[in-house]
Amino acid sequence: MKQSIQYKILLPFLLVLFIGMASLIFVLYNINEQNAYLTIKNDMISARRNQELFLRQYFLINNLEISHLSLINESDSISKSLSARLGSDVRVYPNISSDTIDLPKDEGFSLALEGDTAYTVFFDRGRVTATISFPIQIEGKIIGIMTYSKDYTDLFNKNSRFLLITGLFAAAIFLAMLITSYLISGHLVKPIKSLIRNTDQISKGKYDLDIDIDSRDEIGELANKFEDMAKTVKRQIEIIEKDRDEIRETQEQTKSFFDNVTHELKTPLTTILGYAQVIKENGFTDKEFFDRGTSYIINEGQRLNDLVMDILNASRTSSNLGEYDFQELDLTELLRQTCDEMRIDAGQYDIQIDDEIQDNLLIRGDRDRLKEVITNLLDNSIKYGYTNSTIRVVAFSKGPLTFITIKDRGIGIPEKDLDRIFEPFYRVSGNAPKRGGSTGLGLSIVKNIIEIHGGAIDIKSQVNQGTEVNISLGGD
Ligand SMILES: Nc1ncnc2c1ncn2[C@@H]1O[C@H](COP(=O)(O)OP(=O)(O)OP(=O)(O)O)[C@@H](O)[C@H]1O
Ligand SMILES: [Mg+2]
Repeated sequence: MKQSIQYKILLPFLLVLFIGMASLIFVLYNINEQNAYLTIKNDMISARRNQELFLRQYFLINNLEISHLSLINESDSISKSLSARLGSDVRVYPNISSDTIDLPKDEGFSLALEGDTAYTVFFDRGRVTATISFPIQIEGKIIGIMTYSKDYTDLFNKNSRFLLITGLFAAAIFLAMLITSYLISGHLVKPIKSLIRNTDQISKGKYDLDIDIDSRDEIGELANKFEDMAKTVKRQIEIIEKDRDEIRETQEQTKSFFDNVTHELKTPLTTILGYAQVIKENGFTDKEFFDRGTSYIINEGQRLNDLVMDILNASRTSSNLGEYDFQELDLTELLRQTCDEMRIDAGQYDIQIDDEIQDNLLIRGDRDRLKEVITNLLDNSIKYGYTNSTIRVVAFSKGPLTFITIKDRGIGIPEKDLDRIFEPFYRVSGNAPKRGGSTGLGLSIVKNIIEIHGGAIDIKSQVNQGTEVNISLGGD
């Protein structure tokens, strides 16, 4: 069974309180009762002394000798005068022989008959009476018994009232303590309950907590630490999820890369094998087929070789920093030289390359790899640009960054393909290049090289308008 902290605090506290109150009432009750009996005892003792004194005076004043006979004669008169004087019931019993009827039967009276003094307290139908009985003696001989009774109902009633009030008072204190301790313990437990609710949220994967605790005590500290912990866990989980997504993406890319490699290699191989098989079977009998076949085998073999070289190149440029040779280089000179070399190629399609390159652009990088980047981008602009158009190459520096832009007028890239053109082997379907030998590896190689240089590449394009490639280098 679940035991709430609130009840663990409340129960022992209230138990101790209850036992304390009950003990207090018990002690008060006993002290009161003892006091009542002490009052009665003192009353009785002084009553006896007064009566003995009165008896002696009575006989003296009336000039009587104290004897059994005079006691018998005067007993009524003595009883009346004493009762009137003390305001209580005083009786004299001169006839105490064993055959006398009407003698009281209580224990005090029996003891008085034996020469002792005793008093008894009677409780009878709500009334409390105390009676003292003592012997009247002459020269050691008992000549009668005197009894004195007094009503103590009021005294006992007063005690009961006192106890009732004390009890009610104790009950009220108990109730007040019960309510106060319930509220205080509830107040103490509230933040813990809030923490439990929030822990529950975390176990359900919700990390945005709503901890409504502003106390500055240990529980408040615990709540703050708990919130920090939840934030850390949330951050770690986000990192793990991001890593997981990246790993999945890499796995998918790797799979698609191998699928593409296999597909690209299979096509020329199938052609080579097909022609080789027929040539083997027919020999030189069909000279025309023999010549066509061997040309196909050579061309496809060449394509295969180019493809393998491209794949090797792509793999080399991908992430192996060790293969890079970083040094200070003159980008202006590199760009101008590459543009010059590509102009020959572009000229075949009446494409002009205009450059607007700032002087003395010095950067840190791998010269060969950066040349490869520009060559690939210009190659794309020539392959997919319109004949009789112009390619613009612009380069300048701004602050710590160097920007390169290559812009062509050509068939452009549809918006939906822009996200994917950096993937290895991805080619826009329907965008036929001016010449063969395209594998779709160029832009993935370019992106790798730029990223290894700490730069960024972005492509904007409009179908049937042209494409603009922007590169920034030199950032951190
Ligand atoms: N300047 C451009 N204009 C229009 N389309 C382009 C341009 N540059 C790239 N593309 C499109 O993006 C695809 C990917 O380019 P990428 O350079 O990676 O491959 P490729 O040029 O086809 O082959 P490779 O570079 O391996 O010879 C191209 O196939 C083409 O469809
Ligand atoms: Mg290319």
